Amino acid sequence: MAEPGKRAFVIGHPIAHSRSPKIHGHWLAAHGIAGSYEAIDVAPADLSAFLAGLRGNGFSGGNVTLPHKEAVFAGAGRRDEAAELIGAVNTLWFEDGLLTGGNTDAYGFAANLDEYAPGWTGNGAAVVLGAGGAARAVIHALKTRGANNIRIANRTLARAEELRDRFGAGVTAHPLEAVPELLGDAGLLVNTTSVGMAGKGKEELPADPALLPAHAVVTDIVYVPLETPLLAAARACGLKTVDGLGMLLHQAVPGFERWFGVRPRVTPELRALVVADL
Ligand code: ATR
Repeated sequence: MAEPGKRAFVIGHPIAHSRSPKIHGHWLAAHGIAGSYEAIDVAPADLSAFLAGLRGNGFSGGNVTLPHKEAVFAGAGRRDEAAELIGAVNTLWFEDGLLTGGNTDAYGFAANLDEYAPGWTGNGAAVVLGAGGAARAVIHALKTRGANNIRIANRTLARAEELRDRFGAGVTAHPLEAVPELLGDAGLLVNTTSVGMAGKGKEELPADPALLPAHAVVTDIVYVPLETPLLAAARACGLKTVDGLGMLLHQAVPGFERWFGVRPRVTPELRALVVADL
């Protein structure tokens, strides 16, 4: 078991944009825990020293965000299965005295769909747009939930092929242009690319939700804006849509539980608090 403590962090470079302090601060207050969750800007050159000083500074763990997810993966004494498969660490804690790195993004993705689209598993083929770090977490979640027909479509085909080889049976790789042919029998469409994110311009994905069957669920890991152009198009077709904010909220749950010893809940109140700040 983890050793609950009173001090946790999120490190990144930059870090000011992180929404995690809001989430964990809310839970600390809600549970009356006299602890802290601190946003700390750590430059890449200072990462090893920061990690080496964790215990001495009274930290029981924390979150890791850009650009440190891969470096911390390499530096953690021990890693959980999700981190191994995803190749990145977003959560650190001490276990049996060892700094342990985990990845809770796949958990967050699945928990978000469980909340808003129960029955999403077993819905038929899944089409995943994108082949970066976020796609790895999504594919790991899909495989964990028994998906056996996962189609990765990416602008750079070689990256989709890399993920196909990494995740093995039941995963196929496709160029982005092939997406229209992949949708007709798909039960789930997931955007893991940054297309649709506020400030990214007017790029579009060649993924028309009108080509999906009526029972399909469409979700996006982008949550600014909450309703991306893809989700808006899917909703206009009468399809079930799930925005990406729930993934952010749910991925925070396992970390808080490890550091502070209480399993927090993702409530409408927490969601409203974070939405107010988007
Ligand atoms: P993350 O870790 O957030 O997934 P990433 O590794 O940079 O970030 O991956 C971003 C993903 O968005 C990639 O799949 C990228 O496609 P490429 O592999 O071809 O670069 C995809 N992406 C970004 N901008 C895109 C665009 N304008 N059109 C299509 N795909 C795009």
